[in-house]
Amino acid sequence: MIAYVAMTLKNKRVVVIGGAKGIGFAIAELAAADGADVVVASSSEANVNAAVGRLPNLTGLQVDLRDEAGVAAFFERLGPFDHLAITSGDWGGTMYASVRELDFDQARDGLTVRFWGSIAAVKYGARTIAADGSITLTSGMLAHRPVRSAPMTTAIAGAMEHLARGLAMDLAPVRVNAVCPGIVLTEHVKAQMPPGRLQAYTAALPIARSAEPAEAAAAYVYLMQSTYATGQILPVDGGGLLV
Ligand SMILES: NC(=O)c1ccc[n+]([C@@H]2O[C@H](COP(=O)([O-])OP(=O)(O)OC[C@H]3O[C@@H](n4cnc5c(N)ncnc54)[C@H](OP(=O)(O)O)[C@@H]3O)[C@@H](O)[C@H]2O)c1
Repeated sequence: MIAYVAMTLKNKRVVVIGGAKGIGFAIAELAAADGADVVVASSSEANVNAAVGRLPNLTGLQVDLRDEAGVAAFFERLGPFDHLAITSGDWGGTMYASVRELDFDQARDGLTVRFWGSIAAVKYGARTIAADGSITLTSGMLAHRPVRSAPMTTAIAGAMEHLARGLAMDLAPVRVNAVCPGIVLTEHVKAQMPPGRLQAYTAALPIARSAEPAEAAAAYVYLMQSTYATGQILPVDGGGLLV
């Protein structure tokens, strides 16, 4: 019989790509509070430095998920680590566009950071991640609750979930999961979404509000700590899948 040992992230090395802001920064804060040695990375050196300024125990490194060679160099420089969370997103031009008006160049580009960028990070990160480590990707509720004029966003979020399932088999025993957030009040969302639209999205939820970044981050940290969870999609959606 295997004795269950409650996992903490104490002395674990946690890497958050997309960690300079938003949900990623909240993951970094929570993992650091649990004792992890945290590395945050994103494409802008200035954003990385700002994140390290806000939470001085962090290490910051620049990486652009659009650049495969840069991603390879990032992981070579990083060396061994235990857990990887990827929250990078570029909120590209086709996020809200009907297929009737779809610009194909923009639509293809919409896959570059979230989908292909995650695959690049996993490809090179898999070389140095601990065998008992984990990777957590990011999906989104539009995968399950499509709305008008957002077919690409639904498709990309869905692709992230199936990618997590496929990778969980491909990379075992390294665990691979995805978090599926509902609306999370990050700086970006606050700046881009008018309060009326936010309210329209959340009014019918069992928990009728948006999530705070820390509430979404808790799901990523849980999946890092959960030594028997792999291939799972964890919704943090205020009950959005029920309605
Ligand atoms: N917030 C929500 O309501 C919500 C809901 C469902 C799903 N999601 C998904 O969850 C993820 C995180 O959302 P968020 O609200 O936390 O976003 P955010 O605040 O905009 O943060 C995104 C992070 O990704 C980084 N990034 C962008 N392009 C990059 C690139 N090429 N290479 C590396 N890093 C890059 C950004 O930093 P730099 O600009 O410095 O690169 C930033 O740190 C996104 O994929 C989003 O689609 C969010």
